[in-house]
Amino acid sequence: MKVADVSYRSVWRDGDSIGIVDQTRLPHEFVTRRLSTGEAVAHAITAMQVRGAPLIGAVAAYGLALALSKDSSDSGLAAAFELLIHARPTAVNLRWSLTRMLEHVQPLSPEMRIDAAWGEAERIADEDIELNQSIGRHGLELIRDLAGDKSTVNVLTHCNAGWLATVDYGTALAPIYFAHDEGIPVHVWVDETRPRNQGLLTAWELASHGVPHTLVTDNAGGHLMQHGKVDLVIVGADRVSAGGDVCNKIGTYLKALAAKANAVPFYAAVPSPTIDWTISDPLTEIPIEERSANEVLFVRGLNEDNRATRVAIATEGVTAENPAFDVTPAELVTGIITEAGVVAATREGLAPLSESASGR
Ligand code: MRU
Repeated sequence: MKVADVSYRSVWRDGDSIGIVDQTRLPHEFVTRRLSTGEAVAHAITAMQVRGAPLIGAVAAYGLALALSKDSSDSGLAAAFELLIHARPTAVNLRWSLTRMLEHVQPLSPEMRIDAAWGEAERIADEDIELNQSIGRHGLELIRDLAGDKSTVNVLTHCNAGWLATVDYGTALAPIYFAHDEGIPVHVWVDETRPRNQGLLTAWELASHGVPHTLVTDNAGGHLMQHGKVDLVIVGADRVSAGGDVCNKIGTYLKALAAKANAVPFYAAVPSPTIDWTISDPLTEIPIEERSANEVLFVRGLNEDNRATRVAIATEGVTAENPAFDVTPAELVTGIITEAGVVAATREGLAPLSESASGR
């Protein structure tokens, strides 16, 4: 996508390094960084300089290539895999991409592994863009159908599942970009998404692309739905069970409950690498990342002098808990927008995706 008329991917190869957009500096500053080692990549994922399930997967793949450039022996490969796979726990795309990389390079001699790893990482990144474009086209149909004679289609989204969270286009935001580009009047309610406020990334993306949007607090969605101000909810996902349960940013579940109560269609936009075919009980089997209490107790922003500042919002001694994701049961999900079309959030609906994923 474009930033000030320059086209960017959220990760790219830059000679013997990779480039990323440092998302901890957005929305106030657009800063890119060069990463040259597997360790730097693991840190970028853990510190959320890069974030969003598909992007975490793609960046980790490049991280393995970087690590192999330094040590492509069997032990070097095993160490890099271990380092990267533990960078963040919930998005299954990390395991998916590293396993794919491992299967691709392990049978090769150490000398052959480096080029092969770079090639496979580039393929994972390119494929991510194709998957998101397909999701965009299928999701566009939903928005077009809803548009009818409405003056505007109001979509609510949670967190950031835009181009910043993928290699390009995004998952939940791809249909919105496609609809806007086609001239369908679309307006987005952007959940702030406390505590890390990924909604501000979504607002920044939408503003850069000229898509009308309004930032709302996380508690506003139910009220907006009760008053007929939301036509459709589209969210992304970090891991989806084979039966269609959607694990996504904390607070997604509450939006799905409100959507159900108000007969608002609730969709998750999900590329096949985000489906975890091994999960049978999502509530006990999906690891939910517990992040620092400080993310709840402090907020970051610009002060009056336009300097980045962190301020305490609780008094000393207040304890906080910070689960980063939740699970929306399949029965609350109207459908899943995938690269193969919009499918039911059921085992039968998702099954064809398993075949297309294994055929890649
Ligand atoms: O903690 P984050 O910012 O990595 O969480 C991101 C989300 O929950 C997204 O909705 C999800 O990864 C889908 S991104 C296309």
